Amino acid sequence: MNADLIRGLCYIVASVFFIFGLKMLSSQRTARRGNLLSALGMLLAVVTTLTAMEQFRWAWVIVGAVLGGAIGASAARLVKMTSMPEMVGLFNGFGGLASLLVGWSEFHWQWGETAALGLFTTVAILLTVLIGGVTFSGSVVAYGKLSARLTGKPILFKGQNVINAAILVAIVVLGILFVGAQHSAPSGSPASQTQDVASLPARAGGYLPLMGIVVLALALGVLSTIPIGGADMPVVICLLNSYSGLAACAAGFVIGNNVLIVSGSFVGASGIILTRIMCKAMNRSLANVLFSGFGSATSAQTAGYQGEAKPISPEDTYLILEAARNVVFVPGYGMAAAQAQHVVRELGELLQKNGAEVRYCIHPVAGRMPGHMNVLLAEANVPYEQLVEPQDVNPNIELVDVVIVIGANDVVNPAARDDQNSPLWGMPIIEVDRARTCIVLKRSLNPGFAGVDNPLFFCPNTRMLFGDAKASVTAVVAEFKQ
Ligand code: TAP
Repeated sequence: MNADLIRGLCYIVASVFFIFGLKMLSSQRTARRGNLLSALGMLLAVVTTLTAMEQFRWAWVIVGAVLGGAIGASAARLVKMTSMPEMVGLFNGFGGLASLLVGWSEFHWQWGETAALGLFTTVAILLTVLIGGVTFSGSVVAYGKLSARLTGKPILFKGQNVINAAILVAIVVLGILFVGAQHSAPSGSPASQTQDVASLPARAGGYLPLMGIVVLALALGVLSTIPIGGADMPVVICLLNSYSGLAACAAGFVIGNNVLIVSGSFVGASGIILTRIMCKAMNRSLANVLFSGFGSATSAQTAGYQGEAKPISPEDTYLILEAARNVVFVPGYGMAAAQAQHVVRELGELLQKNGAEVRYCIHPVAGRMPGHMNVLLAEANVPYEQLVEPQDVNPNIELVDVVIVIGANDVVNPAARDDQNSPLWGMPIIEVDRARTCIVLKRSLNPGFAGVDNPLFFCPNTRMLFGDAKASVTAVVAEFKQ
């Protein structure tokens, strides 16, 4: 069989591995195997690509793969679970940067060659550089916001949208100049050789517009991400993830690599689907998230809610839980920060042994990355059947004896439902304030990620168990065991 045919078949097998791997990611039971299958698909794709290259170039790829693998593996092992979201954000950015470099280098090596790049390849280079640049700088800003190196609040200034629009127009103009410079003379025509040589200076002029596009794409990434902040960050992370896939897909067209086109489109499409899910979870349209500037304007006026928070001790918490028949845990970012998932599972088991029905209600944007809480609870071996979604709990939440909120804040903020001036207004929440008793575990009355005060702390049926979530749950577990 001819080598190209075998390579084509290997790429198809790799793509099938990606498809089944992705499908398996949709269930927690099969997610690990799905991840492994996709990684195998990628290995097959890399090895197949190697066989298509001259052997003297292998060293570059192997050194790159070993170096990148070592950095990735050690970063994944060393990173704290709470810093995982910013690491994922940064990796998205590197994906964008890699695509940008692929597009740029492909143009660089062809630059000045007598045969003009085809129109299709020229446009693909343009898109790769543009989307890759936006993804890279946007992801760096998202990383800064998530890791608190930059303010999490939206950064807004006068004329922001006008500047963004001007950048877009400039990109279009430079894009036309770039493509025009490549095709200033028809290639492939009978007189192509002479014309190609004659058009060299014009095509050489394409370098400057391309560099301009790189700079403007980087600026656009920064300017379009800084106005997004607070509770809207999940949407921007998913969107950047999707962009990184689209950039890889465009890079696949540039270098004519089918498996890169396929894998890039998977990432692009799944990122868009996740973006939609996140927008739905926030009850916002994508345009609203991108252009409205969360937490600005009216929202700034949300004054602190008045009332008296009622603290409770671990001993009294135990007494309430001991009598409960129906308990719902609501985990949030604080559970991840405290690494309390294992002891929470232990408390859940004790409650079950005591005859209570136990469920864990997970809000789609709880934590700092999609599926953050699911990952933590799966790691602690919480049975999947006990994980439920807000729509499973909210309709009958007034029948729940005790809701235990573990380091969640924004996702249980009743202001999202009741206060039209709240920046969170309209975001679906877990309505824990309507349960018979709500016990909130956190260290203070400070707001959560969105920086919005929470009236839940002052509700008549809310009790505050102050302290680190892991220490508090451990203390309650100790009471149970006595
Ligand atoms: P948050 O609203 O961020 O609240 C977390 C709470 O945990 C804080 O109020 C904090 O209060 C408490 N906490 C921190 N460390 C703790 C510890 N060691 N022990 C006990 N409590 C601790 O969390 P959430 O309800 O999960 O909401 C998530 C927010 O992040 C949303 O606004 C969402 O939009 C945003 N976001 C989500 C994502 C994704 S994709 N999930 C990505 C980016 C941003 P104290 O300081 O008083 O302890």
